[in-house]
Amino acid sequence: MSWSDVLEQLKDGPLPHHVGVVMDGNGRWAEQRGLPRGEGHRRGAEAAERLIRLAGGEKLCAHLTLFALSTENWDRPPSEVELLLGLLEEFISRKLEELADAGVRLDVIGQQDRLPLRLRSALSKAEQRTQDNDTLHLHVALSFGGRWAVTEAVRGAVRAARAGELREEQVDEHVVHGLMPTAGIPDVDLLIRTAGEQRISNFLLWESAYAEFYFAPVPWPDFDGAEFVKALETYQGRQRSFGKGSL
Ligand code: FPP
Repeated sequence: MSWSDVLEQLKDGPLPHHVGVVMDGNGRWAEQRGLPRGEGHRRGAEAAERLIRLAGGEKLCAHLTLFALSTENWDRPPSEVELLLGLLEEFISRKLEELADAGVRLDVIGQQDRLPLRLRSALSKAEQRTQDNDTLHLHVALSFGGRWAVTEAVRGAVRAARAGELREEQVDEHVVHGLMPTAGIPDVDLLIRTAGEQRISNFLLWESAYAEFYFAPVPWPDFDGAEFVKALETYQGRQRSFGKGSL
C-alpha cells in the first residue's frame, strides 16, 4: 500500500482528538551510537518537527502535546538542561514562521518562571504570533509536571475561597480543571511513550484519566511517520468505554 493510501485508510477510522507524547530515549539513542547525549536531543528535536508536520499536515489530531522537559528533569546535569533549553529556543526561533504558515498554534504549559528570560520571550513571541491558527494546536510541556498542575488548581481554589468567590459545594471536576494551568486543553485520547518504558512520569495526569496508552519500542529520534501510523492503528483497534463497561 502506498503511503497516501495508508493515510487515507487511517482517516476512515476514528482519530484521536488529542495526542500526548513522552519523547523518551534520546540519551540511549546517542549512547548506543557512541555519540554525546546532546546529539540524541538534537535528533529528538528533528523527530518532534517531523511529527508536528505530519500531524498538522494530514490533520491526524487537533491537539498535540509534547513533553519537552519535566519538573524532575531540572535535576539533570546543568549542561544537559542548558542544551535542551537551547535546542528548544533555536527550534522555536528558526521554525516560527514555518509553523505559523502551516497553521500551527503553539502554547507552552509549565513553570515558565524557571526558564531563562530569552527562551521565555521567544516562547511568548511564538504564542502571540500563532494564536489565531487552528490547524494543529501544539502544546509544549516545558518545566511541566502533572502534580504541579493539580497543585496550582488547589492554590487557585484556596485563593478564590478566601476572596469569597468560591464555595465548597461549587467545586467539581470542571471547576478544578478550569483552575489548572492546562485549563482548556482537552483530555488526552492517545498517550504515546517511546523507548519501551511504560510510565506516565508526571505528564498530563488529570487529562490522561481515560487516555489509551501506546508504548513504542523505538527511541524517540527513530520515531517516524510509520511509527506514528502504527500508534494510530493500534488506537483504532481499542474499545473505549470510559469506565462504563463494554459497549
Ligand atoms: C528524553 O530522553 C527526552 C527529553 C528529556 C527531552 C525531549 C526534548 C526534546 C526532543 C527537545 C525538542 C522538543 C521540541 C518540542 C522541539 P532521555 O534523555 O531521557 O533519554 P534516555 O532515557 O535514553 O536517557
